[in-house]
Amino acid sequence: MNVLEAIRSRRSVPRLRPDPLPRETLEQMLEAAVWAPNHRMTEPWRFYVLTGDAKRRFAAIRRRVRAAGMPNPDAPEAVKALDKVYEDTVATPALIVVTTAVCDDPVQCEEDLGATYMAMQNLMLAGAELGVGTYLRTGAILNDPELRALLGLDADRRIVGVIYAGYPVDLPQKRRTPAAERTVWL
Ligand SMILES: Cc1cc2nc3c(=O)[nH]c(=O)nc-3n(C[C@H](O)[C@H](O)[C@H](O)COP(=O)(O)O)c2cc1C
Repeated sequence: MNVLEAIRSRRSVPRLRPDPLPRETLEQMLEAAVWAPNHRMTEPWRFYVLTGDAKRRFAAIRRRVRAAGMPNPDAPEAVKALDKVYEDTVATPALIVVTTAVCDDPVQCEEDLGATYMAMQNLMLAGAELGVGTYLRTGAILNDPELRALLGLDADRRIVGVIYAGYPVDLPQKRRTPAAERTVWL
């Protein structure tokens, strides 16, 4: 698969098989991530790979955060939905929490954040090449104190996203507006 094919075939994959991902495969994806462009070579990214008990703790945090956003989290249908969130999270083979550096200089901060997003894209494209499905998720959990404590983050770190990874059950179809409709040539 070449880069153009990987870009076109990468999808956010919601349905992942529970089969474990080999550690070497995850390491290849992480190695691709760190080759992202990076102004001033700050290498602002850090990756936390959650499996086993750490993943179960993450799943419990995710369930609690999701419940906090519900008007009636104790209603039977809400409990069922929350249990599914927990079970689906535990069944995900690997969760990669990605953090970036927070600094005093706003320009540096913005560039570091951009570089970290590029690193995440590299990681997901490497996944596409290796047959691994990924799904980048964000939301309120990124600022959750219990998640920060689980990762042992200092105040100068910001959680940018969580990449769910595993072998895909299937690849969803998505569409894009052709670039020509979003491009001005001057
Ligand atoms: C910065 C960022 C944050 C995202 N956060 C979420 C999220 O919290 N939940 C979610 O379901 N998808 C999230 N996504 C994934 C998008 O929904 C997905 O990329 C979009 O539907 C296009 O699908 P594709 O990735 O298969 O092309 C996020 C994507 C980006 C770039």
